[in-house]
Amino acid sequence: MMTRDLKMVRDEDQQPQEPRPLTEITPPVIFAELRKGVLGQDRALRFAAVAIYKHTSARSSGNMLLIGNSGTGKTTIMNSVQRLYESIPEYHGFRVMTILNANLLVDTDRAEFRGDRLLAAVEQRARMLLGSQPTAEQLTEAMQRATICIDEIDKMTTLILGRANPVGVVLQQGLLTLMEGGTVPYRTLAWADGVEEKVTLEIDTQRMMFICGGAFEGLYDQVHERVSQSGELQQMRTETIRTAEGRIRILERFDLAQFLKLKDLFAYGMVPQFISRFDKLVLLDDLSIATLQQILLEARDSPFVLSRRDFASRGIRLEIDDTAAAMLAERAAREPRSGARALRDLFTEVVNPYEFDPGIEQLERLPDGTRKLVIDAEKVRSALR
Ligand SMILES: Nc1ncnc2c1ncn2[C@@H]1O[C@H](COP(=O)(O)OP(=O)(O)O)[C@@H](O)[C@H]1O
Ligand SMILES: [Mg+2]
Repeated sequence: MMTRDLKMVRDEDQQPQEPRPLTEITPPVIFAELRKGVLGQDRALRFAAVAIYKHTSARSSGNMLLIGNSGTGKTTIMNSVQRLYESIPEYHGFRVMTILNANLLVDTDRAEFRGDRLLAAVEQRARMLLGSQPTAEQLTEAMQRATICIDEIDKMTTLILGRANPVGVVLQQGLLTLMEGGTVPYRTLAWADGVEEKVTLEIDTQRMMFICGGAFEGLYDQVHERVSQSGELQQMRTETIRTAEGRIRILERFDLAQFLKLKDLFAYGMVPQFISRFDKLVLLDDLSIATLQQILLEARDSPFVLSRRDFASRGIRLEIDDTAAAMLAERAAREPRSGARALRDLFTEVVNPYEFDPGIEQLERLPDGTRKLVIDAEKVRSALR
């Protein structure tokens, strides 16, 4: 009896896993997966997880507009969605995803919306996944499942420095029409009975998911101004922190999410009908010092992680102690509006002299023959005076 049970378990282990129904890949599962690449943005990731769940299981998309200061993770979130589709086998049909800059979608000279460029990018991706001879039906089906990310959307406002910006109007109008759903004709080539012929695909954009992102610089000041005039500012949240050197500081945080209204976006130069195409405005948090420190130590493309890899190839184990990491995070947090991007610059400043010449003879030798280089508070202090 015992042995039989054991054998059954083992057989089960060896079988390839049955694909789960898409409804069983729940928002918490998606959230956990996205979180592997994005730190400190749980609120945004929860919305993203629900939107992706709807997109994949119910085929009704939750379009999202990501608003967050530069370097807080907007592009990182988009990349994580792509990675999610790659890493979950059941999502392989949804890998048709493209990340484009908003300015690519208008012809500036003619002030003309170029939705064809967007669909061409989607088509290209679909063809990569479908192989060499896709039929019209396969192409249509794959393109309709696309996730379309449009970055730097805030550069396409209807107003720039108080003056009308026709290109912004054209872009937002064009996108809103596309996002409204309904079929868009798209001319291309497809295979039928062993020959490739001209076809016009009817693409239903209703089923596509749109994620737009932008820093909306100036929006913070604009809303702060409105709020302080109306006397709401007393409700501002404060945060108590202990610095790397042990001092206590109280910071006032102007949390845009607490105060932002739709009318602020309209005043900023966003077309109301365009904004109404989004199920959710998702505000990214400014990164706390603790999160910046975690990004420095653990993010996939963090400057420390990359540098450690470089040093390893030179037979040196790079380490950083907690105080040094906290000091770097603190310095990065002080840089205005560069978020985690400031970490790279600061870290490079500190590590560069050792990349140039590690002074290998002075480094501690480890039992396995490699050397150990520790970035400590003293090294940070002397580099970032
Ligand atoms: N929330 C985050 N989690 C992990 N890494 C982040 C986060 N925010 C920014 N980064 C890192 O900072 C850099 C810039 O982030 P990015 O996502 O391009 O910012 P933006 O919001 O301006 O698009 C990237 O290298 C990324 O690794
Ligand atoms: Mg970006």
